[in-house]
Amino acid sequence: MSYSIIQHTTGGPEVMEWTAVDLPAPAEGQVTLRHTAIGVNFIDIYVRKGAYPLMTLPGTPGMEAAGVVEAIGPGVADLAVGQRVAYVTTAPGAYAERRNMPAERLVPLPDDIADQDAAALMLKGMTAERLLHKTAPAVAGDTILVHAAAGGVGLLLCAWAKAMGCTVIGTVGSTEKAELARAAGADHIIDSRSEDIAARVMEITGGKGAQKIYDGVGKDTFDASLAAVAKFGHLVSFGNASGAVPPVNIAVLAPKCVALSRPQVFPYIADRADLLATAENLFAAMRKGIITAQVNHTYPLREAARAHEDLEARRTTGQIVLLA
Ligand SMILES: NC(=O)c1ccc[n+]([C@@H]2O[C@H](COP(=O)([O-])OP(=O)(O)OC[C@H]3O[C@@H](n4cnc5c(N)ncnc54)[C@H](OP(=O)(O)O)[C@@H]3O)[C@@H](O)[C@H]2O)c1
Repeated sequence: MSYSIIQHTTGGPEVMEWTAVDLPAPAEGQVTLRHTAIGVNFIDIYVRKGAYPLMTLPGTPGMEAAGVVEAIGPGVADLAVGQRVAYVTTAPGAYAERRNMPAERLVPLPDDIADQDAAALMLKGMTAERLLHKTAPAVAGDTILVHAAAGGVGLLLCAWAKAMGCTVIGTVGSTEKAELARAAGADHIIDSRSEDIAARVMEITGGKGAQKIYDGVGKDTFDASLAAVAKFGHLVSFGNASGAVPPVNIAVLAPKCVALSRPQVFPYIADRADLLATAENLFAAMRKGIITAQVNHTYPLREAARAHEDLEARRTTGQIVLLA
């Protein structure tokens, strides 16, 4: 017998129930994983609420985890029982003690990458890596703006961009978060609750604006981001923590000749070769200390609802991990 978080309806954190399940043997191409650590992401909230229709009900949320291979299905040749692996997936189901996963989506974990760190960074770290190296490549000398700079993705963007030679401006929602973002690499901090974001960016950049803006907050910050982006700059809208950005008339991009992207990490890592290459870039950055996992909040898996409440209420910093 194994336990999973299961929700029968979309809704608030209370719809997530700790439930005993009978897990079938792994099918062709699958392995059974015993999870050790499960990453919590803002996307889990969108999925729980039904805003992203990725989960069939009843279903188990969760897009990333690390664990140990417990059983191997037919046709799986390159994994062994006892092997440590991690994954990020478009198929929710990580909030579980055990799950069956397609072997082709698993990344073997090197000895020097801890389970908790992998669970914290597979989704958020690969996102930061792709945003900074592919979607809107940051180059030395750029001034960039990172929203929610003390959050799970935000701290990684600050640290990585700083190491790439950028000047980093971060927005945060509290004094405590300001300290964390500064420690990660932000050169300038804007308090998004009390300051005019665009005006402060213009002040910091001498009226030029930020060349690249990485905005995971969405509705509440989109207009400020557009006002704060430099001429010929790139605004990357990659999430909706405050709600979805309303439809945009692309003519608003014309006066400053702005590029606008709405990326998600999954297409970048859909092919196995791309998945493994991106994971290797991530692990290399962790080894070099360019980025570090900051698992500032852990919860027992069965208390996933509490993690969601804290994340939604802006009470968390860095990454959140559920321990199985
Ligand atoms: N496109 C992709 O592939 C991809 C992948 C991973 C994550 N994301 C997106 O990246 C963003 C960050 O994800 P995360 O998991 O690392 O979360 P997070 O940044 O740790 O948490 C969200 C943060 O957003 C800020 N925020 C501002 N207004 C908010 C509001 N009304 N409600 C809640 N939070 C608000 C808060 O920081 P302050 O209090 O400091 O403002 C909060 O801590 C999310 O939008 C997520 O969907 C996208």
